[in-house]
Amino acid sequence: GDVFTYDPGFTSTAACESTITFIDGEKGELLHRGYPIDQLAAKSHYLEVCYLLLYGELPTAEQLENFEFTITHHTMLHEQMQYFFRGFRRDAHPMAVMVGVVGAMAAFYHDSTDISDPHQREIASHRLIAKMPTIAAWAYKYSIGQPFVYPRNDLTYAENFLHMCFAVPAAEYKVDPILSRAMDRIFTLHADHEQNASTSTVRLASSSGANPFACIAAGIACLWGPAHGGANQACLEMLKEIGTPDRIPEYIARAKDKEDPFRLMGFGHRVYKNFDPRATVMKQSADEVLDLLGVENNPILATAKELEKQALEDPYFHDKKLFPNVDFYSGIILEAMGFPTSMFTPIFALSRTVGWVSQWKEQLADPTMKIGRPRQLYTGAPFRDYVEVEDR
Ligand code: CMC
Repeated sequence: GDVFTYDPGFTSTAACESTITFIDGEKGELLHRGYPIDQLAAKSHYLEVCYLLLYGELPTAEQLENFEFTITHHTMLHEQMQYFFRGFRRDAHPMAVMVGVVGAMAAFYHDSTDISDPHQREIASHRLIAKMPTIAAWAYKYSIGQPFVYPRNDLTYAENFLHMCFAVPAAEYKVDPILSRAMDRIFTLHADHEQNASTSTVRLASSSGANPFACIAAGIACLWGPAHGGANQACLEMLKEIGTPDRIPEYIARAKDKEDPFRLMGFGHRVYKNFDPRATVMKQSADEVLDLLGVENNPILATAKELEKQALEDPYFHDKKLFPNVDFYSGIILEAMGFPTSMFTPIFALSRTVGWVSQWKEQLADPTMKIGRPRQLYTGAPFRDYVEVEDR
């Protein structure tokens, strides 16, 4: 029969060519269109990085202004889409709501489901990037029983998201610039990460010609898992469970114990075998936000810092090259900002939408694109004849 390369987890299989993101896991380097993530995090901002990922070059001032105008003017959701939110149980996880509502966009924005039209592909990408914060914020508002807050075109992308999450009709809400900067940085640091599980899911879904909303909904579903985007929620829950620094050795011992399925959440990465460059920036942001909010003595941060120190000094983590990843610090920032843990993964999803969309567009424009169809090594029963039920 046919001979296949057996590569479970695709640890050594390249499934596409891409010009978007480059990662050198040994060096701990992450480049978007050639630009290093630390420079982008320090000097750029999310919508500019979105433009870079989508179009390949940094925008001119005029291109940026036009792009920001376009995105800001696609932030409204069709009013009827509120029925989808209202149909969920009020304690539904916001990721469940996002998977459903984003998939349902195909039923509202029919025009953008025509993937053969480059203009419609463009509009679909703008709609997804623009509406995702509204969808995430509304999933949150619904879960806490507050009225939906409509997007505002005069705010930046990050300010608008914070506004839709935290404003209430009865009171004035002003976004602190340090918080909106930290929010923007979280979006920027999660914008793309080459062929991770959710991005590969989007590409595989799209390889069949599925519409963009279905493909991105598939990406959101994949991201939800605790080994991927769900790690930020799992990490904060772990830090809360540990509670105080004196209990850390017990948890480190558990993480090292092969009989115990427990892993240190927020540690380790398939590609980075060195410090995750995003974690370095995220750590600085965490310090800034906690200083602003006056919670320097936050027991969760104290536990996180001590855990990081003890794990990095431990030969087990050292030898296996397990370093803190981006999710380790993002959770602390989001917690300090007032987000419940259930919103951590939705925030990752909205940030990653531009990466998914950029890769989706790149794939559709690739003339060598084929339907994704992995093979298998069959290990089941060999040929055998059917046995009548009374003879079994
Ligand atoms: N705690 C304890 N041991 C670990 C951990 C951890 N967090 N991560 C990996 N190991 C061990 C693992 O037991 C294995 O040991 P051995 O070789 O003795 O069997 C070795 O390190 C290699 O692990 P692996 O599972 O084969 O590596 P992988 O590349 O398949 O997994 C990972 C990568 C991220 C799924 C894994 O490190 C993990 O589960 N980490 C915790 C969850 C997490 O933080 N995920 C977020 C990833 S970054 C953001 C994102 O992708 O969304």
